[in-house]
Amino acid sequence: MDVMIEKNKSADKKVSKKILKFPPGFLWGASTAAYQVEGGIENNDWAKAARDGKVPPAGKACDSYHLYAKDFDIAERLGHNAHRLSIEWSRVEPQEGKFENKEIEHYRKVLKALNRRRLEPFVTLWHFTLPEWFARKGGFLSPHGKAIFIRYCSYVIEKLGDLAKYWITMNEPMVYAGQGYLKGLWPPFGKNIFDFINVADVLATSHNLAYEKIKSLNPKLQVGIAKNNIFFDSNRKLINHLFSRFLKWFYNDRFLNKISGHQDFIGLNYYRRHKFGGKVKLDEMGWNLYPRGIYEVLLDLKKYHKPIYITENGLADAKDSRREKFIKDHLTWIHRAIYPPAGEGVDVRGYLYWSLLDNFEWHHGYGPRFGLVEMDYENMKRKIRPSAREYAKICRKNSLIL
Ligand code: FCB
Repeated sequence: MDVMIEKNKSADKKVSKKILKFPPGFLWGASTAAYQVEGGIENNDWAKAARDGKVPPAGKACDSYHLYAKDFDIAERLGHNAHRLSIEWSRVEPQEGKFENKEIEHYRKVLKALNRRRLEPFVTLWHFTLPEWFARKGGFLSPHGKAIFIRYCSYVIEKLGDLAKYWITMNEPMVYAGQGYLKGLWPPFGKNIFDFINVADVLATSHNLAYEKIKSLNPKLQVGIAKNNIFFDSNRKLINHLFSRFLKWFYNDRFLNKISGHQDFIGLNYYRRHKFGGKVKLDEMGWNLYPRGIYEVLLDLKKYHKPIYITENGLADAKDSRREKFIKDHLTWIHRAIYPPAGEGVDVRGYLYWSLLDNFEWHHGYGPRFGLVEMDYENMKRKIRPSAREYAKICRKNSLIL
């Protein structure tokens, strides 16, 4: 058990401090995704849907396509030693089978800029947005969907594989399938339960094939996915308990079971609890925030016997009045999962807050503000929020001091 109690002697009164030390080499940082921060992306399904008036336009976003070095300087200054970002597929393969070397050169510069600053890159190959040509063909549900994805992944790994060790084939496949094929909120705006299940299954197979391909190209690379798991909870009623068990299996476990044996690590995106029965408080995103849930979800992931990186965890909080506590509460529960009072802990090796900057929050547009850094979208100025400085102390000390 790695909790130390220390007396702060310099203070008049003796104050007990609890120090939660994280494992040596723990990775600390923040996450972003191309369409949400880069700006100027016009050739994908989201840009098309925005032109059709179905979702808000991303426009210039944070202009990180040009200002990435500024962003990484901030991350470095904030004590981060890791950073997650994604490659925009529609830039790299703007037309079917035609790859754009200029964009590869761009991403080479981006990854080199991370490496120079000793920010360990976590690179997502596909974070929700599809090239327009691929979406027009039917995306992952088209007959050649899987092969098209593997070809793209192979190309990127061949060109960029030397610059990053950690590769995430896809972000939140169940969220993508749910929002795009069941709830009708995201492209392609489907509302069909069979398509929803089908696309989720195609994504699992696509991941497995991509995993094998990437490992054959470079066995040293560490490959996984970023999986959004929810803490499903219930009151004492049997029916609610059964609902929550079923959804936990369907939403959290089923996909991971399908890809087990095809991942070197698990990327966990944790945001919220879903409770059946009983009233709960919802935040501005309609989410029931519940820091203990990350502990429960982590303990459950132990069964896969893989290292875990928290690839997203964050809060929309424009006033920055709750972010510091949010981060500390979640880290306290993560620490407890690593060093439980009894029994064996969970192998958690990193924490990437969502997000480094305020950015384009999908169908919500620019309203929600998740950033450690506040964006002024008028002049692209970045302003570090107080919570980011508190998080920086934790990153630098590799410890949470309570
Ligand atoms: C996750 C997404 C990420 C961001 C956060 C708030 O589901 O992966 O892009 O939108 O939610």
